[in-house]
Amino acid sequence: MTRRQLKLGAVLTPTGGPGHPYTWLDPEIPGDASVDVDWYVKYARLAEEAKFDLVFIVDSQFITEDSPPHYLNRLEPLTLLSALAVSTEHIGLVGTLTTSFNQPFNLARRLSSLDLISRGRAGWNVVTSGDAGTAGNYGLDEHYDYATRYGRALEHVEVVKALWDSYEDNAFPRDRASRQFLDPSKLHSLDHRGEYFSVTGPLNIERSRQGQPVIFQAGDSDQGRDLGARVGEGIFTHAASFEAGAAFYADIKSRAVAFGRDPEELVVLPGVSVTVGDTDDEALEIERVTQLADNDFGKSLRELGRPFGWHDFGQYDLDAPFPVEALQHAERSFYTQAKKISELAADRGLTLRQTVEALSAPRTSPFTGSAETVANELQRWLDGYALDGVNIHIGHPDQFRRFVGEVLPILRERGVVREDYEHNTLRGNLGLPFAENRHTRALREGAPLAPLPGSTVALTTSA
Ligand SMILES: Cc1cc2nc3c(=O)[nH]c(=O)nc-3n(C[C@H](O)[C@H](O)[C@H](O)COP(=O)(O)O)c2cc1C
Repeated sequence: MTRRQLKLGAVLTPTGGPGHPYTWLDPEIPGDASVDVDWYVKYARLAEEAKFDLVFIVDSQFITEDSPPHYLNRLEPLTLLSALAVSTEHIGLVGTLTTSFNQPFNLARRLSSLDLISRGRAGWNVVTSGDAGTAGNYGLDEHYDYATRYGRALEHVEVVKALWDSYEDNAFPRDRASRQFLDPSKLHSLDHRGEYFSVTGPLNIERSRQGQPVIFQAGDSDQGRDLGARVGEGIFTHAASFEAGAAFYADIKSRAVAFGRDPEELVVLPGVSVTVGDTDDEALEIERVTQLADNDFGKSLRELGRPFGWHDFGQYDLDAPFPVEALQHAERSFYTQAKKISELAADRGLTLRQTVEALSAPRTSPFTGSAETVANELQRWLDGYALDGVNIHIGHPDQFRRFVGEVLPILRERGVVREDYEHNTLRGNLGLPFAENRHTRALREGAPLAPLPGSTVALTTSA
């Protein structure tokens, strides 16, 4: 029996996301990489050669002139992933799509299309949109409050998943002799009338060979964790230390058990920063120099506003205590992140200037060191159940090459990462079960379908 293996995701934000205002100065990164499909194809193929499970495209739909370079000018995730689908064969394709500013029918249809175009490699990162300003792009005066955001999110995901089961897998006999294209008994309507959405259905597209796209989730509040534990099959998160990672891992898995789920059917993938050097000391120096190159007090001060709904911190005295009252502006934005920042400042009695400096100061990642050190640490976190895999930001290309060329061979030699893809779907490669069609299952088990959360109409298994 093979050992439990590390899952690998590659986050593609070429010109630099939050905290990385100057990554794009790297001569190896074209200034327009974030809108250059060739750049994405190149790195998706490199990740595929290295047997990564997936590429991950983050997204948001609200910018200011102070947004990070990658956010200022980027491709829409599903359009981009469709291009990657026909340029790769094995790697999973995961995109962020918000439940706050999409309708379930349209989203289900677009993701199903990606799942068929990629032949079973699509994944959906479910978010509720942290950038409150997005509301103004969708005809709303303000973003939804947290209860509404996460209430919508749960109902949205359940409706999407139900739509994805509109056709059973053998719904299309396409039999020329009998001239039968569709077996109508295998087509199921939805007739959902819920708290947030009304969707009649059925969806006009069949399922892929993985059954349904894989559901990922990223959100750290209690509500966010509950959503992930309830519907997530992959969890994107952050982990500052082994202890923090292990605590999150135990928390999310126990929440999943409380929702009646098998905890094995949910993989936890924190985003990590990796820096490899010839020696541990050299790696620490590379990391320090890289972080200092990204360090710009003015940009950090302005970017501090983002979790607080792009609140303008430039209006405060830098040397006065951190203005904790600013937290009210985060209530419909990235509240969990903003609350952590406010608490850090209050607990340590920091001024605004010290808070910005503390947040942007160079810090050592647990995954900085020689290739051997990084490999050992990744293995320790995996074996200690602090994670099931990692999401690696492809930042500076030389570091990605070192990770692939120096760290992965060590892990491969130890059997900690795969030699080759085991399956031809994202679901299969992540060790997740095929998503059986709910109508097929209900008929097989002779049990009626449970209604969707928030539904006022019971589902039926009839056409
Ligand atoms: C690892 C991680 C990745 C995220 N990626 C995105 C993203 O791509 N787009 C987005 O709008 N929000 C993203 N979010 C934000 C969440 O979806 C959520 O809206 C935000 O974190 C605020 O909710 P919370 O307080 O539950 O965390 C991400 C959050 C985490 C923790």
